[in-house]
Amino acid sequence: GPVISPQSLTDYLALPQCLICVSPQGNIEWLVEDVESTKLNDVLSQHDYAPSDITLIRLDDGEFLMPGLVDTHTHACQVPNLGVGGELELLQWLDNYTFPTEARFKDVEYAKRTYPHVVRRIVNSGTTTCCYYGSLHLEATKVLASLVHTAGQRAFVGKCNMNRNCPSNYIEPSVKESVDTTLALINYIEELPKAADGETLLHPILTPRFAISCTEELLTRLGEVAQSNPELAIQTHISENKSEVELVKSLFKTNSYAETYDKFHLLRNNTVLAHGVQLTEDEMVLIAKRGSGVAHCPTSNFYLSSGMARVGMLLDHGVKVGLGTDLAGGYSPSILAEIQHASIASKMLAIQAVDNKKCKCNGGHSESSSSGEEDGHSRGRHGHKQPGRFTNQNLSIATLLYLATLGGAEVCCLQDRIGSFEQGKAFDALLVSVREGDTGNPAVWGYNPDRDLTHGVTAQSADNNLIEWLERFLFCGDDRNIKKVIVQGRTIGGRDYHPLR
Ligand code: GUN
Ligand code: FE
Repeated sequence: GPVISPQSLTDYLALPQCLICVSPQGNIEWLVEDVESTKLNDVLSQHDYAPSDITLIRLDDGEFLMPGLVDTHTHACQVPNLGVGGELELLQWLDNYTFPTEARFKDVEYAKRTYPHVVRRIVNSGTTTCCYYGSLHLEATKVLASLVHTAGQRAFVGKCNMNRNCPSNYIEPSVKESVDTTLALINYIEELPKAADGETLLHPILTPRFAISCTEELLTRLGEVAQSNPELAIQTHISENKSEVELVKSLFKTNSYAETYDKFHLLRNNTVLAHGVQLTEDEMVLIAKRGSGVAHCPTSNFYLSSGMARVGMLLDHGVKVGLGTDLAGGYSPSILAEIQHASIASKMLAIQAVDNKKCKCNGGHSESSSSGEEDGHSRGRHGHKQPGRFTNQNLSIATLLYLATLGGAEVCCLQDRIGSFEQGKAFDALLVSVREGDTGNPAVWGYNPDRDLTHGVTAQSADNNLIEWLERFLFCGDDRNIKKVIVQGRTIGGRDYHPLR
């Protein structure tokens, strides 16, 4: 049936009659982009299969498959606070809403009551891979990890390291305790039973909350843990809010936020940096050089009045970018909301750039990396550098789809396993329906039985129902349109998922 798969930042495949062969282990054995029904047996025999060797699943009218969504940044322990506190900015919001909410997870019974709903809601939102922050508590975060493991979601789970600038009832008492509990969680996750085929879906992740909440001694120790485990992923926050950036530079006596993490060996290819709203171009160059990725969290960036991350400029600098819900800085568990807000943020930046250009500047502006001041102009217009392809441009549907899937996979260093449908990758997918009667979502009414799908075309080359279905799903869709959430070939959520049956 119809399949959508990203190819690059600027193109995706929309295949009306695609056949994907998935092995019992949940990997894509092979894929044929355009199969006429009458030629099905020929295709099977070319791949040495007899019809009796396979279970053939045909999609119903109005359905399509796309790769599962990747959430590169969220806080499971903040979900009880969703949608509350958005009138404050970051540092006040943390003190007044977030730390008190997370402190409740000291009670393991509370974690056991709360986290099942959190994981179920995130899975049913279509997130097949998720980077989770737990609270600072070891036991509660073990509960979270165990639930994610049982659910069968692909994920990274970390517990926060935070030993300063936090309330007395929600702070780690020593560097030793912070490091010991971190190592204990890593060990716990690595010891969880493996699937029969050995595919590890759940990974530990080092989680220094942000520079402000960690002493130099703690970051030094965490940097050592990282250096002795090159495969261990790292997640933290960077340059979300102006007051935060100033506080980091004064606490650490550094010139920039990125330089601060770099000093402690925490910027590397498997580091996920959330937000990056206030990053300077010099920092983007450093982040690209280290190979770290940015989790773009536009809902949260709007909700907490942090600003708009310059995603286009990050891409032009070669920084990997994915999307993140940042619950409860963001209020929606769905990556679809991030796609929508990423689109709006890019349009606002593009409008601002055009307005700024009207100031008829003579090219004398330049970005001062020490102040982070912006002149609002693409440097190319001043002749220093060719204008980038993405800087100050609206993000296209192809780019938005990429960020939500393959871009997120790159940020997690999982681009060889997930993010698109390709031979050898895992089958992590969403079965989407745009039929109103089927889904109960009248906002997505792209299904029109009177129109035929055009055959075997790329997204750019044809007026095609399938392309409209995708766009409508991305902008008007929600969990009602997601019939199945599939990870490693196994259905783990969605409207059609009834585990007790
Ligand atoms: N910076 C440090 N902690 C947090 C958090 O929990 N949420 C957000 N959005 N930013 C942070
Ligand atoms: Fe966050």
